[in-house]
Amino acid sequence: MKVDVLLGLQWGDEGKGKVVDVLTPKYDVIARFQGGPNAGHTLEFEGQKYVLRSIPSGIFQGNKLNIIGNGVVLAPDLFMDEAKELEKSGHQLKQRLHISKKAHLIMPTHRLLDAANEAAKGKNKVGTTGKGIGPTYTDKTSRNGLRVGDILDNFQQKYAEHKARHEQMLKALNYTDYDITEVEKKWMEGIEYLRQFQLVDSEHEVNRLLKEGKSVLCEGAQGTMLDIDFGSYPFVTSSNTICAGACIGLGIGPNKIGDVFGIIKAYCTRVGAGPFPTELFDETGKKIRDLGHEYGAVTGRERRCGWIDLVALRYAIMVSGVTKLIMMKSDVLDAFPVIKACTAYQLSDGSVTRDFPFDINEGITPVYQELRGWNTDLTHVTDKSQFPKELNDYIQFLEKELETPIVIVSVGPDRHQTIEM
Ligand code: GDP
Ligand code: IMO
Ligand code: MG
Repeated sequence: MKVDVLLGLQWGDEGKGKVVDVLTPKYDVIARFQGGPNAGHTLEFEGQKYVLRSIPSGIFQGNKLNIIGNGVVLAPDLFMDEAKELEKSGHQLKQRLHISKKAHLIMPTHRLLDAANEAAKGKNKVGTTGKGIGPTYTDKTSRNGLRVGDILDNFQQKYAEHKARHEQMLKALNYTDYDITEVEKKWMEGIEYLRQFQLVDSEHEVNRLLKEGKSVLCEGAQGTMLDIDFGSYPFVTSSNTICAGACIGLGIGPNKIGDVFGIIKAYCTRVGAGPFPTELFDETGKKIRDLGHEYGAVTGRERRCGWIDLVALRYAIMVSGVTKLIMMKSDVLDAFPVIKACTAYQLSDGSVTRDFPFDINEGITPVYQELRGWNTDLTHVTDKSQFPKELNDYIQFLEKELETPIVIVSVGPDRHQTIEM
């Protein structure tokens, strides 16, 4: 019986998709447990690049069962586009992608509400992906949601009632200039398409498989700093991205969890608004963005770039009980003579802390430790014995600061550019 969990520890886009694909051969089942099409998980192999949004990243290797769990929010139209694209490139999904009947549906009006809420916030907007994530989870927790299982019975009436309620809300927000006729038509096609998949009680399925001795890898979306409870609130997403989210989003007991893999970039990025203490506004930040191709996989937005933040990472490791770290995009730092790591925050009263504070919105000055860069092309490295000394020093420094071992170092986007430690 084995459930491992894989999480982003920063502000998302750490490279979770790539690692899930790499680790898939070791598991029987890959399951998504939260988030929705706000995620963009990129995989590269055999010269092809795929961006997955709602479909787990275990879909490409060895015919494994993939599950979309109850904690996920699903947009049928976007899901249909994503799945058909994969089918077109020869990947059959219908038998091995199961969808929880308890997953909530993102309606077209949820996306309008997302836009309306952002407009109402004005300069304080979150910079959401516009996929309707916040309003869908809000409907879920306010006990107004529409679930995948609802499409099996009297669906049109339920849909109409939810839509009418949303229209009232949009009116109250003075957001009335829209026409969703076409979008709605496609959305309904998406509902019909969804019926071709196995809609399951995934909590029963996962626990039965565990009883049979099967192993499960839970794939997180977003990152700890975007967690609704522990992230940089209110500039967060609307789900629990930490380890506990896997228990809730799949119906797995916490005592079943084995390893918790924390995915980190060798530096740090953020897309959307909100605090980011180690953000670089200078040429160095621009160089990281250019070399790391730091543009959003979902929205194409420029990602904000900065040095690694060990205060935030210690916190992320703590709240999820991370047992192993995986460092991504190490090659992006190949050409930096000096690499910096934020080891503590100086607060506005002058005090210095290594503990993540209540509010990082203002008054944080990062305290940096400087390390020597390696000035070596890592992208062709095939074994850790070829690592330059400075990279080994950086790894050891991080392991000591974070009190957690780094078990994989990624040196390029391809599946094979992955070094086990
Ligand atoms: P996710 O949301 O956590 O799955 O990450 P994204 O896919 O949004 O962003 C990670 C980006 O970095 C993708 O474009 C990946 O192809 C790419 N990537 C992943 N690992 C590496 C790596 O080690 N080096 C480089 N240069 N790119 C990587
Ligand atoms: P993956 O899984 C990076 C950010 C948005 C915004 C905030 C809220 O690819 O790592 P939302 O649409 O969720 O209501 O937006 O969260 N955000 C992400 N940033 N990677 C993601 O996913 C993200 N999903 C949401 O930019 O700041
Ligand atoms: Mg992403």
